[in-house]
Amino acid sequence: MRKNIVAGNWKMNKSLQEGLAFAKSLEAALAGKTLKCDVIVGTPFIHLAGVASSVKLGVAAQNCSDKASGAYTGEVSAAMVASTGAKYVILGHSERRTYYGETDAILKEKVLLALANGLSPIFCIGETKDEREKNVHFDVVKKQTVDALFGLSAEDFSKVIIAYEPVWAIGTGLTATSAQAQEMHAYIRKTIAGKYGEVVADNTSILYGGSANGGNAKELFACPDIDGGLIGGASLDVEKFIPVIEGF
Ligand code: 13P
Repeated sequence: MRKNIVAGNWKMNKSLQEGLAFAKSLEAALAGKTLKCDVIVGTPFIHLAGVASSVKLGVAAQNCSDKASGAYTGEVSAAMVASTGAKYVILGHSERRTYYGETDAILKEKVLLALANGLSPIFCIGETKDEREKNVHFDVVKKQTVDALFGLSAEDFSKVIIAYEPVWAIGTGLTATSAQAQEMHAYIRKTIAGKYGEVVADNTSILYGGSANGGNAKELFACPDIDGGLIGGASLDVEKFIPVIEGF
């Protein structure tokens, strides 16, 4: 059975001290609650080891290198991420695709290295506003999925978590309606079934991201193909993040 997951993506926010304090207060606030989902925090690289060693929450990096090791100044490898105790890595976020030129070919390498080092990729896909208006959003999302992921074996693919994040909904306050999100999630699941079969598709967690918050999480998570969320802004405050987690 696929898992319900709520993952926070801190992006480039919080000092080390703020991040550690946040993770501890989130864990304390969740203690004693009966959770219906796994909770992950996606932190900057420098927070990973400290957060992973001080809380039992899932921990994700927000990126890793497309190279295994060597003379790549400033890069952080998948093996290094794994050595911190983090179990997940967010890959293919639209901010990385747009601002840092990450292509499907580069992301394919990152996914392979993440998996080879025992990390589960949280792989982001999603169309721009322009692509939705031109009615090519299904094609765009399919191409992102096929080009970066469909070279994987079924066994490896089953370790991947998908995050559908329409670019027009990220940080804009414009959430996809639950109908729009469900429609795309069902399409993604059907695409996965076409390649890997119904069982793998059924077991794949597909998260929604883009202005998700405590006010809309419940309706989004109630959709049959929405298995949780990848949360930006609303994951930065414990009081805002808890209602999202409680959307399940
Ligand atoms: P917001 O929740 O701030 O829109 O960000 C979503 C996101 O990009 C998560 O990866």
